[in-house]
Amino acid sequence: MAGSERPIVIVGASLGGAKAAEALREAGYRGGIVLIGEEHERPYERPPLSKGYLLGKDDREKIYVHPPQWYGEHDVTLRLGTAVAAIDPAARTVTLADDGEVAYGKLLLTTGSVPRRLPVPGADQDGVLYLRRVEDSDRIKAALRPGARIAVIGAGWIGLEVAAAARTAGAEVTVLEAMELPLLRVLGREVAQVFADLHRDHGVDLRFGVQVTGLTGAGGTVSGVKLGDGSEVAADAVVVGIGISPATALAEAAGLEVDNGIKTDQHLRTSAPDVYAAGDVANAYHPLFGKHVRVEHWANALNQPQTAARAMLGQPDAVYDRVPYFFTDQYDLGMEYVGYVEPGGYDRVVFRGDPATREFIAFWLSGGRVLAGMNVNVWDVTDPIRELVRSQRAVDPKALADPDVPLGEV
Ligand SMILES: Cc1cc2nc3c(=O)[nH]c(=O)nc-3n(C[C@H](O)[C@H](O)[C@H](O)COP(=O)(O)OP(=O)(O)OC[C@H]3O[C@@H](n4cnc5c(N)ncnc54)[C@H](O)[C@@H]3O)c2cc1C
Ligand SMILES: NC(=O)c1ccc[n+]([C@@H]2O[C@H](COP(=O)([O-])OP(=O)(O)OC[C@H]3O[C@@H](n4cnc5c(N)ncnc54)[C@H](O)[C@@H]3O)[C@@H](O)[C@H]2O)c1
Repeated sequence: MAGSERPIVIVGASLGGAKAAEALREAGYRGGIVLIGEEHERPYERPPLSKGYLLGKDDREKIYVHPPQWYGEHDVTLRLGTAVAAIDPAARTVTLADDGEVAYGKLLLTTGSVPRRLPVPGADQDGVLYLRRVEDSDRIKAALRPGARIAVIGAGWIGLEVAAAARTAGAEVTVLEAMELPLLRVLGREVAQVFADLHRDHGVDLRFGVQVTGLTGAGGTVSGVKLGDGSEVAADAVVVGIGISPATALAEAAGLEVDNGIKTDQHLRTSAPDVYAAGDVANAYHPLFGKHVRVEHWANALNQPQTAARAMLGQPDAVYDRVPYFFTDQYDLGMEYVGYVEPGGYDRVVFRGDPATREFIAFWLSGGRVLAGMNVNVWDVTDPIRELVRSQRAVDPKALADPDVPLGEV
């Protein structure tokens, strides 16, 4: 590629953005790459922020995607602390918030997502904490002292992982969830119960079906959570994990098609020429499922940018059709999940092993076909589970439940 050509510009310098830059170089692209991010840290991974890093087990150096010298060595211009304010697909430029413009040949949006804010009175006080960035994790870590009263709002991934870290640090934890079980929309009732039991067994006060109506405080610092039934939960700190919104503002303002994220085709091309999207922000057409799917997990931000990079380089076989994958670690429970199930989109759950032992595999089925599988404290089975999901063939539920039948033979 000629050095005078417009560079490939990547907006969003996190896992997705850094992996795209890496993939472009690995594919042999020799033109300019400009990676722009509003955070001041070089690209890092978020999973440790609610696990090892939050627990003080992983040191900070472990969170970064690349060592600092990697960017110079690979001729990637990294512009940190720089927010992009607008993109102009007609002129093929991005405008920086602190003035200035960068012209692009191709543009990749890996702007990720932002936490939803709690819409109640008192939510702007000190001690009300969200978890997205490394500095958020530092703030929460400081609050997790033995005996501290921590109220967690939302029993999703953030809420449960923070609750586990807080209990491990010796804090008193109350989790307040709007629905009847944790992770209900993702896991369904049968498997969500496993996580409720896990946290109860570790001394978390779990309250379901609650409505948070406000946060109390004194002198600008939070002191409790008010609930719809008139009761109050006293708290030294409140951690809010009530979901995210994809960061689509730039795309929307530029007239790109946006619907639950930036819509892309299977090559991760958006509705604007030469503009691509990947990671949390992309609602990408998935050929295996025959629909658009937006995945808010690490493996998607790791892998999609590799497809986007190859697509930007004009490789027609660059199609993203991986089966979604994610994982969690809470106390002594480790799990991996492969597949994709829409809320309520299954008709049967089959267990291989007893969920009460917390060593089992759960499968979600519809019409006899496996939509997803989750291995809990059972390892080295994601490949056969992925194959079951990918094959979309009907299986014998009895064989699926039988640990003596290899997964490849059910
Ligand atoms: C605490 C935590 C723990 C997690 N744990 C797990 C886990 O265990 N397993 C799992 O599968 N997933 C986990 N996830 C989810 C996973 O981290 C995300 O799916 C992943 O970070 C998405 O990566 P991304 O690059 O698409 O976006 P992000 O990580 O959101 O990064 C987007 C970047 O773009 C920047 N940006 C946005 N707009 C602009 C702009 N206009 N100008 C410049 N920069 C901009 C943002 O500041 C940000 O740095 C976790 C998430 C969090 C927050
Ligand atoms: N292990 C993992 O894969 C992992 C870990 C951490 C974070 N993440 C990602 O980070 C993002 C944010 O996670 P999250 O836990 O905030 O979102 P989430 O969508 O996983 O869970 C949000 C939870 O908050 C509840 N909720 C919503 N509004 C509420 C309210 N007003 N009061 C009480 N409860 C309410 C919902 O019912 C839901 O259970 C997600 O994209 C998630 O996938 C993933």
